[in-house]
Amino acid sequence: MNLPLNYDFLAPRKIVFGWGRRCEVGVLARSLGQRAFLISGLPADVGSGVLGEITTLLEKEGIAAAPLTAILHEPEVADVDAGSAALRREGPGAGDFLLAVGGGAAIDLAKALAAMAVGDPSTSVVDYLEGVGRGLKIANPPLPVLAMPTTAGTGAEATKNAVISSYDPPFKKSLRDDRLMPQIALVDPELTVSVPPAVTAASGMDAITQLFESYLSNRARPIPQALAEQGLGLAIPAIAEAVENPQSQPAREAMAHATLLSGMALANSGLGLAHGVAPALGIHCRVPHGAACALMLPAALKANREVRQAELARLCQILYDRNPAAGDCVDFLIEQIEILCDRVKVPRRLRDVGVRREQIPDLVKSSRGRSMSGNPRALTDAELHALLEEIY
Ligand SMILES: [Fe+2]
Repeated sequence: MNLPLNYDFLAPRKIVFGWGRRCEVGVLARSLGQRAFLISGLPADVGSGVLGEITTLLEKEGIAAAPLTAILHEPEVADVDAGSAALRREGPGAGDFLLAVGGGAAIDLAKALAAMAVGDPSTSVVDYLEGVGRGLKIANPPLPVLAMPTTAGTGAEATKNAVISSYDPPFKKSLRDDRLMPQIALVDPELTVSVPPAVTAASGMDAITQLFESYLSNRARPIPQALAEQGLGLAIPAIAEAVENPQSQPAREAMAHATLLSGMALANSGLGLAHGVAPALGIHCRVPHGAACALMLPAALKANREVRQAELARLCQILYDRNPAAGDCVDFLIEQIEILCDRVKVPRRLRDVGVRREQIPDLVKSSRGRSMSGNPRALTDAELHALLEEIY
């Protein structure tokens, strides 16, 4: 950890967590305004029931519920620009807010629309993304966001960025501003029981990766580290149960809570190598974010083991009750993570997710975003290339 201590800590204004607590959405939303624009990330078969329930609860509190858009893929520039144009036509203003119910895609889209619908109408979100476009800053205060996650993975309900993709030209970058942090995170783990096993595994490993990477990051801070220790202590024993027994309330609760903690941890500490490479895998090879992070996690831990020996040993003590002074503690931790990856059946090699070997140079080039800058060990292009070859 960097000394002397000097940090900010950002979190949603209100976190409401608990099984079945989606029934409180109307009362909670009343504190944000009178008109809710709904963004759904749910597949149609599940979505209609949940959205109907939410709409009824909002209307009961005198809040008009206006369905704005549905999104079933990671949001792209075109989605944000079309969505903000549609929202502008509604004349957004005081008393309006966005309500996102879905995974990270829907919540990130809501955050981006909350900012873009009240910004300069002549510009695209590209101009506000990190490292691309014109580097514009969000001027007007974004509309408030109420986030209801339905997957346990990205932690987007507790982060201050929206990840936006483009395939031509290829980039995956963040729109970032403290004011994009949702005002209310309403986390009802019951909403995650319908998530299929493969998505539960990949999104759960994303949360675990976020907890590890924020803990080890060169921007690590004490509050996020405490959250990460707790989050890993919940998620590591629960993920296999959530995958293998989707109805398990304790496992779904543990994963949803660990994910929420991972969002706050990453929003305040940054990430590392796995999240550096994941966007490159997304834009060049269409690998979903969770699968990409899951695939990269063991390699990222190995790459940082020498420079984060003490932190990894401490986690091994917390997670597996091993003496941190024992010489094999870090080896044991990494081995356990690899066993867990195999147990929940996430992809382990680049070739398993459709990467072609000749794409590795492009992956190296596209991995140099903000996440990579948080990695405790700086890797040269040649070192990153060799690492990717090793897991090909
Ligand atoms: Fe992630």
